[in-house]
Amino acid sequence: MNKKERLVDLDDKHSLHPFTNFHDLKRQGPRIIVEAYDNRVKDIDGKEYIDAFSGSWNVAIGHGRREVADAIKQQMDKLEYFSPFFRFTNPPAIELAEKVVSLMPQDWNMGHVLFTCGGSETNDTIFKICRMYWELKGKSQKKKIISRRFGYHGVTMGSLSATGIDLFKMYFEPPASSDFTHIMAPYCYRCEAGVEASNCDLECAGQLEEAIRREGPDTVAAFIGEPVIGAGGVVPPHEGYWSKVREICDKYDVLLIADEVITGFGRTGKMFGSMHWNLRPDIVAVAKSITSGYFPLGGAVINNDIYGTMQKDLPEFMPFLHGYTYNNHPVGCAAGLANLKYIEENRLVENAARMGAYLEEKLQRLYAHPSVGDIRVMGLMAAVEIVKDRQTKEQIGALPMDSTHRIEELTYERGVFARAGLENMELAPPLTITEEEIDKIVDALDSAIPQMESEML
Ligand SMILES: Cc1ncc(COP(=O)(O)O)c(C=O)c1O
Repeated sequence: MNKKERLVDLDDKHSLHPFTNFHDLKRQGPRIIVEAYDNRVKDIDGKEYIDAFSGSWNVAIGHGRREVADAIKQQMDKLEYFSPFFRFTNPPAIELAEKVVSLMPQDWNMGHVLFTCGGSETNDTIFKICRMYWELKGKSQKKKIISRRFGYHGVTMGSLSATGIDLFKMYFEPPASSDFTHIMAPYCYRCEAGVEASNCDLECAGQLEEAIRREGPDTVAAFIGEPVIGAGGVVPPHEGYWSKVREICDKYDVLLIADEVITGFGRTGKMFGSMHWNLRPDIVAVAKSITSGYFPLGGAVINNDIYGTMQKDLPEFMPFLHGYTYNNHPVGCAAGLANLKYIEENRLVENAARMGAYLEEKLQRLYAHPSVGDIRVMGLMAAVEIVKDRQTKEQIGALPMDSTHRIEELTYERGVFARAGLENMELAPPLTITEEEIDKIVDALDSAIPQMESEML
């Protein structure tokens, strides 16, 4: 057995792959990636691919940046870990909290950050903070979380309950509690209200008010939404959506959580997605691009009112009794500081806006293929929605994601990793992507899509 055969054999015997189809894995084997640099990765056979999805939406600065690796090594040499509980902390955690808050608009009035290991943990943490906040405010019935269909907030029991993609819940029902409710998404292409975008009266935002009134305003703790829905199909909302949501949250005393796990730190062409609509959240979930994947890290960012309430109103004997072993990890926070420095010094947020405009322009030619129903782009996150028929917008194939999985395979054969997400091909290249690489990504899709059509339509 050579090295690759040995690894494939061991993988087959012992690895459980997340978000992986068992039959595909048996048939095609694992895709073993061994190296990465800039906007490219290399597999065990030495074949190179353009990373058109930043790993998992997260490798904002591109692969192999020495600056972050060095910061990790230096921190490892000095302090690899100590307990984050009982008042202990470390310099990188303190400095990164200050840095993250300083990147947010002042009127958000953000103050404090608890770092976690990723997005799901962050959202679970936030839901608990919301409950604690309302209980301390004397509104102990306020427990419920409202989110949207097509929203993705993670897969731990709490965050999965808020996630609005039914496919991801199959076999894992019931949710953590019945205190999670979903409303329609601002998904104009598939508007549940059946309204054309030109006649939109923001019924999707109006549904939030209906849901709050139906559930009872005294029972609703928070609304959570991604400024731009990501895994559910890259769905930027209609103009006016977020201001209406903010208004409704204020009217009924409901906390507004912006899940910026994908959109945070430049992906959409602004530092935070909420900034496109002057949205002022009460709590922000961050993860992914905070370290560009060089170390697992997320963070719950809360405003001064929430922190002040917990600090002032918890009984004297009572600590904030929530925490994970790896909260405020010194190495993760050192990676975060070096990563954010790289983003700022290399003006990657501006590059995301510029390259996003270029990507949007180049993607338009895919409309020449009959299965391309819609193309949505917001900075460097994009979706190409695949349909059997532009009129009916039905999916191709009997099973969900049949066609997009096939396009993903065909694109991969052409040296580009783009991801199948529901009935969309999702793109989220590193913020360091170049025009030449974008041309190659679009070329690969432009030849993969008609091949899929000839096989499946
Ligand atoms: C918007 C959003 N929230 C939360 C999560 C969950 O993050 P993680 O996979 O790090 O748990 C994701 C992951 O893709 C996400 O896109």
